[in-house]
Amino acid sequence: MNALENHDPRSFDHLAEEYDFVASLVRKPDFFLSHLPQRRHRVLDVGCGTGVLASELSRHFESVVGIDISEPMLAIARRKRAAANIEYRRADANELVLGQKFDAIVSHTAFHHLENVPRTLGVLKATLEPGGRLILIDNVAGKFAFARHPFLYVVFSCLRLPLDIWRFSLRPAWRFFRFCVSPSWIAHVTTDRYLSADGFHEVYGQLLPGASFTRLKYFMGVVWQAPGADVI
Ligand SMILES: C[S@@+](CC[C@H](N)C(=O)[O-])C[C@H]1O[C@@H](n2cnc3c(N)ncnc32)[C@H](O)[C@@H]1O
Repeated sequence: MNALENHDPRSFDHLAEEYDFVASLVRKPDFFLSHLPQRRHRVLDVGCGTGVLASELSRHFESVVGIDISEPMLAIARRKRAAANIEYRRADANELVLGQKFDAIVSHTAFHHLENVPRTLGVLKATLEPGGRLILIDNVAGKFAFARHPFLYVVFSCLRLPLDIWRFSLRPAWRFFRFCVSPSWIAHVTTDRYLSADGFHEVYGQLLPGASFTRLKYFMGVVWQAPGADVI
């Protein structure tokens, strides 16, 4: 273990390899792809992780910038999901300084890690081109929030295993299960704090007037269009 290794249980540094496996197994870009703006020059992915979404978006935009605070996550993105039109940058979304504007800003399950969502949203809004879109998905606290108690989380992971074997086949499902019940992930996920559905409307609705909210099982999808024309 080197001295720079991050020991914060909330960090993804020590989860990177297995998280990447899980993300590539379960991540679906449909919500993002169905809300893309007409003009598709530049897109920013906030908390891009190992680049699963950024890589998909590189097929739809001229250029993609993926930012993340975790160097091990970015290292996997650069190794596995490099493309001529993707730049992966280390940056803290709590202290964003972006020297360019974007036609779309996306984020998948990163916003609950931010210290001050309104402040980051303010910076991101100012970074959108007229008519540009902010499209994000984040976890929502639902009626099964109690299942994130460590013991119950393991029980639910066990119960889900047969279904995952059916969905993904034995080996990937087993690897997914081992990740879910690993002490590192349990320490991480059971200390995550999510907004309720009402909380989403309150926090995001105030800052993003006219935003649309879509409940996606354990997640909330938020789409907001910046004032101005979305034209080529
Ligand atoms: C749940 S993962 C999601 C990763 C990726 N978006 C995906 O869907 O596979 C959350 C990501 O947000 C990153 N993150 C957390 N806090 C951050 C911050 N302050 N600035 C930038 N990225 C951050 C983490 O390092 C991690 O890669």
